[in-house]
Amino acid sequence: MSDFIRDDDGASNVSSNAHLHQLIEREIARNPARRNFLKSGASLGLIGIFGSALAACGGGSDAPAPGTIGFKAVTTSSGSSVVVPEGYTADILYRWGDPCVAGAPEFATDASQGWEAQEVQSGDNHDGINFFPINETSGLLAMNHEYINPEYFFAVTGSEDWYHPEVAANTKKMLAGHGVSVIEVRKGSDGKWSYVKNSSYNRRITGYTPITLSGPAAGHDLLKTAADSTGTEALGTLNNCGAGQTPWGTYITCEENFNGYFGTDDSTFVPSTLQNRYGLSAAGFAYGWHKGDPRFDLVANPNEPHRHGWTVEIDPYTPTSKPKKRTALGRFKHENAECVLSKNNRAVVYSGDDERNEYLYKFVSDGVYNPANKASGANLLDSGTLYVARFDAGTVTGDNQGTGVWLPLVWGQNGLTPENGFANQAEVLIKARQAADRVGATMMDRPEWVAANPTKAGEVFVACTNNNRRGSNDTPSSNKADGSTTAGSARPAVDEANPRAVNNWGHVIRWNEAGADAAATTFTWDIFVIAGNPALEGAKKGSTNITAANTFNSPDGIQVDPEGRLWIQTDGSFNNTGDYVGQGNNQMLVADINTKAITRFLVGPDGCEVTGVCWTPDGKTMFINIQHPGEVGSHPNRPTSFAPYSGMDAFIANNPTAFSKWPDGASAGRPRSATVVIRKNDGGVIGT
Ligand code: FEO
Ligand code: CA
Ligand code: CA
Ligand code: CA
Repeated sequence: MSDFIRDDDGASNVSSNAHLHQLIEREIARNPARRNFLKSGASLGLIGIFGSALAACGGGSDAPAPGTIGFKAVTTSSGSSVVVPEGYTADILYRWGDPCVAGAPEFATDASQGWEAQEVQSGDNHDGINFFPINETSGLLAMNHEYINPEYFFAVTGSEDWYHPEVAANTKKMLAGHGVSVIEVRKGSDGKWSYVKNSSYNRRITGYTPITLSGPAAGHDLLKTAADSTGTEALGTLNNCGAGQTPWGTYITCEENFNGYFGTDDSTFVPSTLQNRYGLSAAGFAYGWHKGDPRFDLVANPNEPHRHGWTVEIDPYTPTSKPKKRTALGRFKHENAECVLSKNNRAVVYSGDDERNEYLYKFVSDGVYNPANKASGANLLDSGTLYVARFDAGTVTGDNQGTGVWLPLVWGQNGLTPENGFANQAEVLIKARQAADRVGATMMDRPEWVAANPTKAGEVFVACTNNNRRGSNDTPSSNKADGSTTAGSARPAVDEANPRAVNNWGHVIRWNEAGADAAATTFTWDIFVIAGNPALEGAKKGSTNITAANTFNSPDGIQVDPEGRLWIQTDGSFNNTGDYVGQGNNQMLVADINTKAITRFLVGPDGCEVTGVCWTPDGKTMFINIQHPGEVGSHPNRPTSFAPYSGMDAFIANNPTAFSKWPDGASAGRPRSATVVIRKNDGGVIGT
């Protein structure tokens, strides 16, 4: 078969819109003696007194100043391990196939197990991850399993003809490899973290777990299927990329490239305007799931794709809770969901739509969160206003700074009317991309993660990973922002916020909401960094804070830690030649937000992406995910011959340790995505 498409493509809050847990983290960083009080299991419910706790605790600490970056940078490399700075340790925590749900079997390293095992073991391709504290030494990790690598996912022996999605059990196993894991983790007396096998918290959500459709689009005709005549219950969550965490202690997982799973063998299929706008096609991403499960056949079940492309809220503390797809946040290829509180405690969720020339969105709840009552967050994400960003040129102050507007996607306003194809608010949300087209949002260079700064209210960052379809020097696209399929059409010109015609390295934009209020409808912005390669010429070098020592491409996962450092993870080219010469494997860097200085912290193993990052409340333990180690691509260390097989996928399917044995090494049956725990050997805060 052809190669698969890999590209994807709180507190009382009197003065801050930070996450609650981040405020707690900051307070603990300032005053470790308050840790037990602040992080007790009841702390989320004790917020009414947390404001006074903050007021009572001034600064003062013998720790390095908050935000200090003090480690020795690591150099770029191509190799088979996770490289961290001197004085740091990286431990493997939770790998694809590790037992999750109580009673699950151990992983068979030849990948011979079926869906029955996979649905209770860790999913594949770990991505977004968040930490939910229980007490000082334990908590829950919720993490995404974005997709599966078919060439590594099945036991194959001596066959060119190795991929069989038409076998229903195979497609079901692939669905079982998707979704979310919740696992309990504990710190041992030696400081090392491990996950708790058989914990009653441990849970898998897969591509076929029942999920409530809630909010304004629930029950709309476009969400009804033969299997669900009410349009209120979807099966599963797919392509869960980045994530987010609410002040009330829930996890928000994001459905990104859901379109690629759908397809059809019906030669009469012609995609509708709506299907085109969301990149649905007969071939999909070559997974062929429609052959094994009619749910994914665009002709047999034309509304099923409308039940994906949403954010899903999960209560990790309650293993029996039913996840909810929050339709008020719109349907698009959500990258992550960064949730903060506005000045008056409305829930604000930022989310990029990661595809070339797509948009940046934010949702502002109608209701207000009461930090003294965790339950007040329960349905905040079902009612509110969805906005999309327009970045305008301007001369505020400083370098390359402009202004911007959040444009409301509200039925009946700004052309979002029946004559333009929007019968009601439900349709505005289901067709959010088209609604955003109509109101004049700014096409972005693939907006990936959004990260808010917990130490400065209203300051937010977005990673624009790369874009080869802006300007005129690029290749045709089948999913233009206007829904057209004509090669070369509707390709936007460069603009101030997306300043390079050929943006092979990506950039990070920062904005500050008016009045330092996340609910504001205007903002100012600047470009934090334009990634590039100092070995090249002109605009390819990137901005002045890119040096030979920190060169990287394709920023993707970003988060600001509790002390205000901006961490940047990459998902880009690792071929180490041409535009990417000297950049090595995918990596993680950290930026000083005040000086814009960037330092490399970690390099990942061959073929991987580094994605997803979270911290324990004290900032002394970092959890990251290494996704798809062994994705060969054009890596310089890749096998030199695929013989006797005709292509790379067949070769790897039959020789799954030929390129990577990470993380299991000599005993590996195949490479496995995994969660990695990073700690400083002296017990200090990560990054210092
Ligand atoms: Fe799944 Fe846009 O990264
Ligand atoms: Ca990503
Ligand atoms: Ca990416
Ligand atoms: Ca990825």
